[in-house]
Amino acid sequence: MGYLLGVIGNPIKHTLSPWIHQQFMKETGINGIYRPYEIKEEELKESFDTFRRMNVDGFNVTIPYKETITRFTDILDPRARAIGAVNTVVNQDGTWKGYNTDGRGYIRSLKQSFPELDTSVKSVLLIGAGGAARGIYDALNQEAFPVIDIANRTRERAEGLLDIREAHVKTSLYTLIEAEQNLHQYDLIIQTTSIGMAPNDGMMPLQLQTLKQNTIVSDIIYNPIETCFLKTAKEKGARIHYGHGMLLYQAALAFELWTGRSIHPAHILQELEQKLKG
Ligand code: ATR
Repeated sequence: MGYLLGVIGNPIKHTLSPWIHQQFMKETGINGIYRPYEIKEEELKESFDTFRRMNVDGFNVTIPYKETITRFTDILDPRARAIGAVNTVVNQDGTWKGYNTDGRGYIRSLKQSFPELDTSVKSVLLIGAGGAARGIYDALNQEAFPVIDIANRTRERAEGLLDIREAHVKTSLYTLIEAEQNLHQYDLIIQTTSIGMAPNDGMMPLQLQTLKQNTIVSDIIYNPIETCFLKTAKEKGARIHYGHGMLLYQAALAFELWTGRSIHPAHILQELEQKLKG
């Protein structure tokens, strides 16, 4: 029998994860099914118990259950514990272990686009301090970047990220207005807020007047593919990185955890872009 996989969330109608995992199955010759499950909050525990009884191989977890699911897993990977959120659950011989592949997926996607990242990027600005930012901040801390600053509307939320800071990393916290005035300091700027997401397209968390040329500007929003933030950055001579890369690479890492097979998904990126535009 093939792998039994899926994704839980709410809403889940527009998820591209089943399509992405189908591509991975094709690539590896692995048989299996990957289904979306729209689940209400009060059904979460019962659904997990059903997955246990069915002995599924694992599942992804998306909005709004990435934090809540940590109550039901048996063990957590140390990075998922530090982040406080799980996007991938793996059935390891009846022990259900929670992982978070979002941040590592993001870094992998970024390195695919910019292989020289490790040597060319010394200072990073992370815009936003929500769940997605937390995973990315953690993954950035596991890399060798000496400066990772955070700009967020609410200072307390940004302070919350400091508990996962590694000793070799220097982080200063800024308001969005403060950060806006000093963008020339950064080699990499990562936009993780929901500002610019459809249907509120056209908005930006901060203006880009002080951006220097060749800075890598990245937005994790993939609907629309090219946010106003990225379009403006491109016009100013920045090198840009689109959000659907993270979507693809976090999925690749999840697939690797379930099946033990490595995935090289770069060739799927363009097709994914077409699907998102379609
Ligand atoms: P996710 O899990 O997708 O990261 P989230 O946890 O709700 O979503 O975080 C959303 C991020 O977008 C936060 O950084 C939030 O800022 P606050 O921490 O101040 O709430 C930011 N954000 C959302 N709407 C915003 C707005 N209108 N202006 C500025 N920041 C906004």
